[in-house]
Amino acid sequence: MDRGLELRISEDPEQLAKAAGEFLVEEAHKAVEARGRWTVALSGGSTPERLYRYWGEPSVRDRMPWDKIHLFWGDERHVPPGHADSNYRMTRQALGAGVPIPEGNLHRICAEHADAEVAAEQYEASLKTFFGERPFPRFDLMLMGLGPDGHTASLFPGGDAVLESQRWVVAPYVPKLSTYRISLTVPVINAAELVLFLVAGSAKAPAVRAVLQDSKDPVRLPAQAVSPAKGRFVWWLDRAAAQDLPPNALEGDVAKAMATTVFSLARE
Ligand code: 6PG
Repeated sequence: MDRGLELRISEDPEQLAKAAGEFLVEEAHKAVEARGRWTVALSGGSTPERLYRYWGEPSVRDRMPWDKIHLFWGDERHVPPGHADSNYRMTRQALGAGVPIPEGNLHRICAEHADAEVAAEQYEASLKTFFGERPFPRFDLMLMGLGPDGHTASLFPGGDAVLESQRWVVAPYVPKLSTYRISLTVPVINAAELVLFLVAGSAKAPAVRAVLQDSKDPVRLPAQAVSPAKGRFVWWLDRAAAQDLPPNALEGDVAKAMATTVFSLARE
């Protein structure tokens, strides 16, 4: 069995946002001390939105090294940046105008391009400019959400985007949404130094159990394709999202920290 997946469970969505938010403030400082910057691929959705709001609170905001933080997006809807569905717009609104991040540190996906495939190619080119032409970029943090159907980023069940092994960015058509998306690919996600899933709510409990417990079938459950090659792997849930996990799935020591119970979960 290889390195464990770390499972952290907070009481509720607000505790989750606060505890994960504080954990990531520390991560930011450690990365800046070690490498002079913190490169983050953000997730869309309502769960990470709470985290971004927490980061935007003055008492938290003022403790983060924004001039050394580079924000990217793990995926984006095929809409302009001002559209209600835009992950970029959601993030900027949640962080608030008070966050002093330099505009040059915001690396959004230009999803306003009429052709989603071109938007994906442009984003891949911008990543290669920033990270260099290495096999895959190594983000310090890859923030992931989980849909009730087991999707993550914009890798949805039944699609083949989850199987892409060479490209850094793809533009899958999502039939259930009748729209294109732009998404980082699995090799990029798995190259990250830290992959962190944030999942809250009882509606996600069946998907959490399926992704963590069912036999591996990434086309059916795309989130199962996420398994960092060398980086740390953390699933941070609230109690409701963890409610379907069998007790015996949790092995190892239990430590209490910031109203969060930490388990280590063996991975096959
Ligand atoms: C998106 C996200 C998506 C999201 C999940 C969970 O663009 O919608 O990247 O993968 O993380 O759908 O979203 P919620 O946290 O809103 O349930």
